Amino acid sequence: MQYYFITGTSRGIGKALAERALQEENVQVIGVSRQQSIEHERYSHHSLDLSDVGNLGSKAEALFTELSDAERIVLINNAGTLGDVKYFGSIADDKIDQLFSLNVTAPAILMNHFIRAYQTIKAERIIINISSGVSQYPVDGWSGYCASKAALDMLSEVAALELEKQGVRNFRVYAVAPGIVDTQMQTNIRDVDERNFSRLEKFKDYKDSGALDDPTQTAEKYFYLINHPDKFLEVRQDVRGF
Ligand SMILES: NC(=O)c1ccc[n+]([C@@H]2O[C@H](COP(=O)([O-])OP(=O)(O)OC[C@H]3O[C@@H](n4cnc5c(N)ncnc54)[C@H](OP(=O)(O)O)[C@@H]3O)[C@@H](O)[C@H]2O)c1
Repeated sequence: MQYYFITGTSRGIGKALAERALQEENVQVIGVSRQQSIEHERYSHHSLDLSDVGNLGSKAEALFTELSDAERIVLINNAGTLGDVKYFGSIADDKIDQLFSLNVTAPAILMNHFIRAYQTIKAERIIINISSGVSQYPVDGWSGYCASKAALDMLSEVAALELEKQGVRNFRVYAVAPGIVDTQMQTNIRDVDERNFSRLEKFKDYKDSGALDDPTQTAEKYFYLINHPDKFLEVRQDVRGF
């Protein structure tokens, strides 16, 4: 059996990843988000607010149960937020805290418990953190978002290094940027005030010119990586290069 733990499965890229995983017969998907939109006999849902990180450790411990029949276990940290799109000086403090909790602290806690639970199990293990191209360069209005994705990249690099140093085999960690995908997050981007985000017109053009990828196509690219990990030796990846 293959087990996929995926966060943010109620819509967008996370939902497409869960639905893609469920196309295969021997797969169980465990999804986490505040709302549920998938009904399937091999799908189970945990309604959690992942930005509420205070007791996430104990919830994660309960999530990653013993999986003695596992051939492959995958954790995909996908849930994320753009946060309050504003320039420094105007950002709501509580939104800064909420963004880093959801985009950085929650994935780190889930990785911590996933590695603890499955470090010694004899199954293929993969952690994929959904990153972004903007982990590598600054975008005005997106300070927290850019910084959180840069942090997620480095969490992935360090986890991969530690597994290598401990001689753990058959366990890969990736930070994978999805390109520009037609989801609610893109709708939210187009709704912001141009005074807080100078690239607004460019993002409207992406939508109008049909440049946005469909989430199902994006999910397919992630599964290409999952099914061919030997072709992807670097931790940081971008599906646009696949
Ligand atoms: N779309 C793009 O062009 C793009 C580009 C680069 C990177 N990404 C990254 O791709 C990932 C998915 O983005 P998307 O475009 O699919 O976004 P989306 O359409 O806004 O979906 C976000 C998902 O995260 C969940 N989520 C949000 N806040 C949550 C919380 N507090 N607790 C639990 N779950 C929560 C949402 O579920 P609930 O609301 O039900 O909780 C939803 O399922 C994100 O990490 C994003 O940064 C997207």
